[in-house]
Amino acid sequence: MGKGNCKLIIHGGAGRLEGKVATKEQYRIGLQEAIHPAYETLLEQGSRAAVLHAIRLLENDPIFNAGTGSKLQKDGRVRMSAGLMDSMDGIFSGVINIYDVEHPISVADSLRAEVHHLLSGNEATEYARRKGFPFHDPITMSRFIEYRKALRNREKFGTVGAVALDDEGIICAGTSTGGIGNETPGRVSDSASVAGTFADSVGGVSCTGKGEHIINQAVAAQVIYRLRDGVPLKKILTELSKEGASRNHEFGLISLDQTGRFGVRSTKASISVLYALKDSHHQLDFTNGGRNLIL
Ligand code: GLY
Repeated sequence: MGKGNCKLIIHGGAGRLEGKVATKEQYRIGLQEAIHPAYETLLEQGSRAAVLHAIRLLENDPIFNAGTGSKLQKDGRVRMSAGLMDSMDGIFSGVINIYDVEHPISVADSLRAEVHHLLSGNEATEYARRKGFPFHDPITMSRFIEYRKALRNREKFGTVGAVALDDEGIICAGTSTGGIGNETPGRVSDSASVAGTFADSVGGVSCTGKGEHIINQAVAAQVIYRLRDGVPLKKILTELSKEGASRNHEFGLISLDQTGRFGVRSTKASISVLYALKDSHHQLDFTNGGRNLIL
């Protein structure tokens, strides 16, 4: 494989555009500002470095519901989750309900080298401190105002993620989220699970949307196991979204298969995935408008 085969796709969540924290154009610019530098990283350092770079940039951008700008939970606190996996060693690592860190995805990455690859809550945060990740308050004024209003009028969801294929054929997928907003403390999202994030040598997937629905369908793992059975990506995504729609599920996903095919899908026409993708031929954004995109 050469540099010409490198592929990167990122997302900034799915749903009906919230419009409360940012405009459609601001989301588009945020995705563009992440995909270009992360694509350079993909060419120079490979898929894992590119996924980490893209997600860190999206976690930095307060309009996205991950890292700084994460939604507040019912008790007014932010707890974040992130997961990461690549086809080099097949290790899934992640953090669940971590708090007061700038980059949950970096802590998830660090856990790859540990005996236990998945930590939650206080212990995840204590681990981050021991590893030198400093205190960072991720609450922004916009999210605080949204939280106060959401107590009366529940808002929709959002998350960020990235999937990359590098010139050595290594596929990496990562996802980071501030959750669905106003949830009961202790709720566990899909992002730091193999339902929300999965990669192996046949493909990679990052999901966004209602975590309970993504877990019900084991979405990311199901895509990869069906790819292993030789089912084409387009057929898998069509069937998954049909099943999701029939169960009134609300989620979307981005994906890549080992041949470099991109896939973006959501369960309903009213749910758009905010995405950007880049390779040597394409540079596309911004929403799938609820349609199936296979490239
Ligand atoms: N998919 C993000 C969440 O449900 O928390």
